[in-house]
Amino acid sequence: MNNLGMKFDFNNMMSPYVADGVTEEEISGLLPEIEKAFKAMAEKRAGGKMDWRDLPYNQDNVVDDIINYAESVKNDFEAFVVLGIGGSALGPLAVQQAINHPYYNELPREKRGGYPKFYVADNVDPEKLACLFEAVDPTKCLFNCVSKSGSTSETMSQFMIIKELLSEKLPKDEAAKHIVCTTDKEKGNLIKIAKEEGYKTFIIPSGVGGRFSELTPVGLLPAAMCGIDIKKMLQGAAEMDKLCSESDIYKNPAAMYAVLSYVAMKKGKNIAVMMPYADSLKLISDWFAQLWAESLGKRYDNDGKEIFVGQTPVKALGVTDQHSQVQLYTEGPFDKMIVILGVEKFKREMDIPAIYGDIPSLGFLGGVSQSKLIQTEQMATEYALLKSGKMNLTITLPEVNEFTIGGLLYMFEVATGFAGELLNINAFDQPGVEEGKNATYAMFGRPGYEEKKKELDLRPEKNEKFII
Ligand code: PA5
Repeated sequence: MNNLGMKFDFNNMMSPYVADGVTEEEISGLLPEIEKAFKAMAEKRAGGKMDWRDLPYNQDNVVDDIINYAESVKNDFEAFVVLGIGGSALGPLAVQQAINHPYYNELPREKRGGYPKFYVADNVDPEKLACLFEAVDPTKCLFNCVSKSGSTSETMSQFMIIKELLSEKLPKDEAAKHIVCTTDKEKGNLIKIAKEEGYKTFIIPSGVGGRFSELTPVGLLPAAMCGIDIKKMLQGAAEMDKLCSESDIYKNPAAMYAVLSYVAMKKGKNIAVMMPYADSLKLISDWFAQLWAESLGKRYDNDGKEIFVGQTPVKALGVTDQHSQVQLYTEGPFDKMIVILGVEKFKREMDIPAIYGDIPSLGFLGGVSQSKLIQTEQMATEYALLKSGKMNLTITLPEVNEFTIGGLLYMFEVATGFAGELLNINAFDQPGVEEGKNATYAMFGRPGYEEKKKELDLRPEKNEKFII
């Protein structure tokens, strides 16, 4: 057992537990590739190309700055609103939901430890933003504009709306105190604007990409603004880093996760379902979906060969989705691996009263706890998947807290990097995402995108016959 108390049980990924499962011979046959991947990861880390690996160790000053800032401003605002998208939003959302009360915003302030309410405005849906300001007064909000590139249209459009709104309602100096920026130290518009307009700013280290940035100020500031212990998150990540540095694949959960996923992909399991059995972990699946899809979904390998790889992440929730998707997972095609996230000890307990003992179909529930029920249903799903020969694995946290969540996020990040090495792809770029961003700029006639506009104009006309 490791210090995180996390269990990584991959029995049901293996043959003969599931037919067509991974064999120990397949794993040992991959040892040369695994060694190569370890070496490449170590070289990238040493060469400053994987700066997110060092975040648990090199942020003492940043962490102090974040905590001091959060403590000094927390009483000044009713709500803390993140303006960011993708890697700038999914981590803060996942961590807040994992650690804090599920009805955090509905609690009276003293039950929130005096911290402001928490919102994330990520999409550009006009209804949602307009409605946010019906729920909270923007002049009582602290807005955290988060953008590594400082130019993402979604985030910057929201920033522009808020900047205008605040300057209409508040004196200039006062308005500036309602904005805090998290961005690159020199690249992009946001840092320039922040400097010119005097906003408090936190820096995203240049070698850390969006989806690997939860343990930078991108995730640490929102967490600290909600009373989450960010030092413990980083300690959990550091603990996981020790495990992830193990060269024995059977002692290294991240490397093993990558290897199993890699073999599963080779066996046609092109879908990775993540199914936490705890509401607090529901948004970890959202965060993971971006990490896994954006990092591994690639057309070309590192040698420029077309390979079209990746595994489609699907989000599910136990037990809720036992009553919908699990039918497909058990009896549907053999195209998935299912990753179950379990919890040993819930933060609260609900006992089911020992009533209706005379009705056998209800009486068996009497006197057991809800955690016993959810855990039993989780085991039952594992069994149903096993019986139908569907690959599945279970990661169990002793409890959901800052330490274990820091470790879990870090494990998935390392697994993603490792899987990228095995697939011989660049897990840290996102040309497919950039294509969409650039097409948007071209459609708006943004200077510098004239060639892209010409390319777009050449796209085939739509045929009315195919529009009903
Ligand atoms: O992982 C990524 O790089 C992306 O998902 C980005 O996080 C997302 O596009 C937002 O980018 P930015 O932080 O530059 O606004």
